[in-house]
Amino acid sequence: DDQIKKIEKEPQVNQSLSKDKDKVVHVYDIKDIQPECDKAQNKSVSYCRCWKSKKFPLCDGTHNQHNKDTGDNVGPLVVTNKKE
Ligand code: FES
Repeated sequence: DDQIKKIEKEPQVNQSLSKDKDKVVHVYDIKDIQPECDKAQNKSVSYCRCWKSKKFPLCDGTHNQHNKDTGDNVGPLVVTNKKE
C-alpha cells in the first residue's frame, strides 16, 4: 500500500530507538538543563540528532563515525550557558 511504498522510498532515520512507540519525544525543562550545562566541563550539553548515540537523546560522538561511513554531515544540538 501507500505507506509501504513511502517507507521503501525514504529509509527510516531512526533505526533502533524505542521502535515500539509511535513517536520518540524527549522533553526537558530549561531550568533542568542550565544546571547540567553549569556542571559540565565546557558548560554545554549536546543532544543527538543522528539517532545513533548509545546515550540517546544525549550525543556520544557516534555521529563522527556515521559521517565517515556515509559522507553525511550530521552533528548534535549543543545547548550552552556562556553566562559566568
Ligand atoms: Fe548523534 Fe552525536 S551521536 S549527533
